Amino acid sequence: MKSGYEYTATGKVFHLNSQGAASNSNAFSVAGIDNNFTEPAIAVVHVDGNNSLDLLYESHNITATADGATLTTVTLKDPVYPFFVDLFYKTWKEEDIIEQWTSIYHKEKGEVILNKYASANLYLYNKDYYLTSYNGSWAREMQPVVTPLRQGMHTIESRLGTRENLLTSPNFMLSLDGEATETSGTVMMGQIAWNGNFSLQFETDVYKNLHIVAGINPYQSAYHLKPDISFETPRFVYTISFEGVGKGSRNMQNWIRNRTLIDGKGDRLTLLNNWEATYFDFDQDELVALFKGANELGVDMFLLDDGWFANKYPRDHDRAGLGDWEPNHKKLPDGIPYLVKEAGKQDVKFGIWIEPEMINPKSELYEKHLDWVLRQDNRPEIYFRSQLVLDLTNPEVQDFVFGIVDNLFTENPELAFIKWDCNAPIFNGHSKYLEKRNIPQSHLYVEYTRGLEKVLKRVRQKYPKVPMMLCSGGGGRTDFSLFRFFTEFWPSDNTDPLERVFIQWNFSYYYPAMTMCNHVTNWSNKPLKYKIDVASMGKLGFDIKVNELNETDLAFCKNAIANYNQFKHTVWHGDIYRLQDPYDNDFASLMFVNDVKSEAVVFNYLTNWRYVAETTVRPIKLQGLDPSKKYKVTEINLYENQRELIDPAVIYSGDFLMKVGINPMVNLSRTSVVLKVQAI
Ligand code: DGJ
Repeated sequence: MKSGYEYTATGKVFHLNSQGAASNSNAFSVAGIDNNFTEPAIAVVHVDGNNSLDLLYESHNITATADGATLTTVTLKDPVYPFFVDLFYKTWKEEDIIEQWTSIYHKEKGEVILNKYASANLYLYNKDYYLTSYNGSWAREMQPVVTPLRQGMHTIESRLGTRENLLTSPNFMLSLDGEATETSGTVMMGQIAWNGNFSLQFETDVYKNLHIVAGINPYQSAYHLKPDISFETPRFVYTISFEGVGKGSRNMQNWIRNRTLIDGKGDRLTLLNNWEATYFDFDQDELVALFKGANELGVDMFLLDDGWFANKYPRDHDRAGLGDWEPNHKKLPDGIPYLVKEAGKQDVKFGIWIEPEMINPKSELYEKHLDWVLRQDNRPEIYFRSQLVLDLTNPEVQDFVFGIVDNLFTENPELAFIKWDCNAPIFNGHSKYLEKRNIPQSHLYVEYTRGLEKVLKRVRQKYPKVPMMLCSGGGGRTDFSLFRFFTEFWPSDNTDPLERVFIQWNFSYYYPAMTMCNHVTNWSNKPLKYKIDVASMGKLGFDIKVNELNETDLAFCKNAIANYNQFKHTVWHGDIYRLQDPYDNDFASLMFVNDVKSEAVVFNYLTNWRYVAETTVRPIKLQGLDPSKKYKVTEINLYENQRELIDPAVIYSGDFLMKVGINPMVNLSRTSVVLKVQAI
């Protein structure tokens, strides 16, 4: 006999299977009735204290959505309690993406406590599963770990509140027929799109059924739900590719650009940032001198980073000033308008850094509004980077945070860019606002995220187009939910180009190149060309003092930026193909191809800087070209005295380039090679 339910006149009978065990295959498994075999997707306590739930099919509905997807809604209801769950499946045919989430509501007479409230519950069967998740920390984001799933639970989760991707990314890759490669194998790739505590549970049972439960992390987050209010859960976004990881990546990136990201089909600004060039130590004259550098380089914008604000407790280091968003009079006597004007004179736009959700105890804001700070009155404060988090559950704090952005734009209508940073997780999380209203503290994590979203929605209503970079002490915040408000993100503070190849490589599985800001800095002593070539696989920026470049390097930079401006649309809007994995080889190769396959850019980076065996310098087979088209291949980003080894006069068929390939000849004296492939 199979395991499962049999419905009889008197009730529901559960049968074990022939081996005397059972497995749950429900679309949304519940806690408290019969399913103790696998992890539930939902667990509640009813108004009468009963903590069981049963969910049966009630109805379903399929509609075409205005934005071009199909939405299937399945309503489930408890046969005993007026408690409902709507399961949503939004399917995007063109991009091959599914978004799954739930809406939970009831009509009981009082508050039902939701102890767990997942977005999605999936049930798969396969012989074996390889799960790729991404761990990391500051300056070493997105380090992949492949775990063969065995019987038991594997959880990917965050409990940090803000900056929730500091240690774990919300992305995953699940290979179903052995480990998928770039071009072969069945693989599910996705993310829980929630800018807060998340949990992705993968539980394998004894029969190799895999149960996935994805959603908000229930850690410290029992939610008291009033009647007739819907609790909407975040989106679990995924694709399934039967042609390996590359196809999965392209599905995901197309969906992000087409359906989620602000200005996903538009432009981005190249920039010069001053963080690593000056840190906190600058004044307005020095900044104006840097603007000149931006102009000389030929980038679009200058981005003023941390350190420009606060007077009573000047922001001369990271231990003071956060919260006091007045320009520092000593450093910037003429304020921000002067800087915007001076940048304009140099024909560069001006952008600015803020970290609006945070506060240093050494600030006037802290002195005035202690009740706006997440902290516990009866315990010592615990700091992360000497700062605390503001209470975004509080509408007054939401107004304050919105006001920081709004004031900047009101005073400087020509402001062209915002970098929105977030350096601390929530420690000692306690909200005075919730306390005063007798709202349970267990709502804090959820309401914080909702509060942040409210602010960002207001920002976008008033300033729909302005580009904004999502930053969180590097890549501590990279979920798709925030791409509704941001145009790009800062993947890591680690700008060592060699380490960065790996970080960018791993982000590239999920995020389009146009969203990935990569800056050329002095963090490492690798060659300038290598730095620029590595940064060019995303959105190119610089964080250097241009006047410290010698003439040859300056000329090289200018030429590389001019090249970038020519091929950037292919990188930003084209399809990505990862050709050679740096984890298995001495160098990494990847390429971007435009939609009509008339142009491609191939990036090749040496990743084993100690020794390159002759035998590893082999042709790389390109992908994504039109086999019947003819192409010429030109090596670009060369110093004036550098000899090109790829003959631009040779014409190749797309078929040849994809079947035989081309050797970029990466070696210890050619550590990075950029090839432009153009149809003739
Ligand atoms: C962390 C960011 O990742 C850096 O780029 C820089 O903006 C600093 N914060 C400024 O404090």
